[in-house]
Amino acid sequence: MYVLGIETSCDETGVAIYHSSQGLINHILYSQVDMHNEYGGVVPELASRDHIRKLVPLIKQLMHESQLRSVDIGGIAYTAGPGLMGALLVGAATAKSLAWAWRIPSIAVHHMEGHLLAPMLEENPPEFPFIALLISGGHTLLVKVEAIGQYQLLGQSLDDAAGEAFDKTAKLLGLGYPGGPKLSILAEQGAPQIKFPRPMTDRPGLDFSFSGLKTFTLNTFNNSEKTTQDKANIAAAFQEAVAETLTIKCKRALQQTGLKKLVVAGGVSANKQVREFLTEMIKKEGAQIYFPRLEFCTDNGAMIAYAGSQRLAAEQHQELTIFARPRWPISELH
Ligand code: KG4
Ligand code: ZN
Repeated sequence: MYVLGIETSCDETGVAIYHSSQGLINHILYSQVDMHNEYGGVVPELASRDHIRKLVPLIKQLMHESQLRSVDIGGIAYTAGPGLMGALLVGAATAKSLAWAWRIPSIAVHHMEGHLLAPMLEENPPEFPFIALLISGGHTLLVKVEAIGQYQLLGQSLDDAAGEAFDKTAKLLGLGYPGGPKLSILAEQGAPQIKFPRPMTDRPGLDFSFSGLKTFTLNTFNNSEKTTQDKANIAAAFQEAVAETLTIKCKRALQQTGLKKLVVAGGVSANKQVREFLTEMIKKEGAQIYFPRLEFCTDNGAMIAYAGSQRLAAEQHQELTIFARPRWPISELH
């Protein structure tokens, strides 16, 4: 069965078609980053308006490129949350309208479940059970995954998400939006001369906190000469602190649960140093690590089409009522 996937939770319009036996057929992504860059961050109202402009033409293009007609599509999956309400509503309303017109089932997908399952689109997908570290702009979650829909939350950020910490630090250093990728490029020109804190690693538990690290970074920056080299050194020290903190917590989660598989997904999983630190730890632990390909670390329609396809295959689907939830804990899924 061909499943159309729609992602509009934040600043990218993503559409994709996944086939239950042939795998990913096609996907297209339109990123709004250039538009939001002017404002230094995502402007929710502009994001919604742009999804309205782009979504239907993108679906048409996707169907045309895939040489599929509406009668070929067997189900529609869309991101129903968490995310920006206006942006989510564009995807939800479009998905429900198409489902009604085409007389096919639709399924609401949790955005973080989409990220969590993104490595399933790769050649050697992980088998359940595993630990998932989900590091995006809005969330930092450590989850024990028994099966699709069986998610036990082991830890989460008590304040800023990892991606948010990258974005705020990048802003402080005068880099544009989104800051994560830009900060990591600058970090390559620097060296971590000052050791930044590894928050909440010296006490038990699997929760995260990045706001203290943000303040430490701000103070270090204010006490520096603010030269290009100072900024690069701060970027390097900050990135190393985040990478090591995430690694310590993942190691702890594996040891506590006795599991030997780690899935890492969400925008920050595209970060080279984060990938390197985690991979090195996994080797020492004699475990295995799974990442999505780089383009599927950040938001995309393919992960939503995949997650929806799995849920539709399990005979799950919803009524035509438009459903969107800006806040939606992953542990509520089943
Ligand atoms: O998963 P995602 O595309 O959207 C959300 O669901 O939030 O994640 C976006 C976040 C942003 O905070 C962005 O700065 C960060 O992921 N990010 C990175 C990198 N690429 C994206 N952070 C660090 N290094 C990167 N290479
Ligand atoms: Zn995301």
